[in-house]
Amino acid sequence: MTTASTTPSTARPPVKLGVLISGEGTNLQAIIDAIDRDDLKADVRVVISNKRTAPGLERARRRGIAAIVIEHRAFPSREAFDSALVASLRHHDVELVICAGFMRLLSPVMIAAFRDRIMNIHPALCPAFPGLDAQQQALDYGARFSGCTVFFVTEGVDDGPVIVQAVVPVHQDDNEAALAARIHAEEHRIYPFAIRLYQEGRLELRGRKVYIRDASPIGPIANNVNPRLP
Ligand code: GAR
Repeated sequence: MTTASTTPSTARPPVKLGVLISGEGTNLQAIIDAIDRDDLKADVRVVISNKRTAPGLERARRRGIAAIVIEHRAFPSREAFDSALVASLRHHDVELVICAGFMRLLSPVMIAAFRDRIMNIHPALCPAFPGLDAQQQALDYGARFSGCTVFFVTEGVDDGPVIVQAVVPVHQDDNEAALAARIHAEEHRIYPFAIRLYQEGRLELRGRKVYIRDASPIGPIANNVNPRLP
């Protein structure tokens, strides 16, 4: 399977995004900011939250983006909720789904509808520390390094093919908030970058590995040296 085609990257249209959130939406903001800086050719068609009180909804509305609530509690099953998500994403003509702090496991209904077209970000170096409280898990384990991972969503929990990762040191005197803030800064850098790789047709999925065409700018990103998109 490939997400790449032969169209030159310069001729490619903006990628049409649907962003799923549950909370603050700082990753959503980083994506919006990257679009506004012309670092990312994308159009956020809709932001969907499963929580009515998610502050990220306001970030979308301020930018004139459709922001809607689909509460998971209103549905009898995970599949029924996901069917409503699929219908809304299709209604907004979404091509690539971006989970950005969306704290719901996706069922096969969503994954089949957007196969290899759903990205997620996790605040750890996958496959380490999956699930909830990844930063606290890293502290409790005594890890010297943690970080964040952008990956394609599969049926498993935080175990899909890795697109981009960034490494963050764990300090002796860290607490969860300090480590989370350091990881967040890296998330805001690598998530727009991963979406840009998709938009440019540079991602190719072979088995469970993601290959990146023309990987020259990737070295600095992976090593945390280059804080900006190329
Ligand atoms: C981010 O740290 C993201 O990695 C995490 O939720 C936070 C959302 O922040 N996601 C997960 O833990 C998913 N397993 P944001 O709402 O400010 O973007």
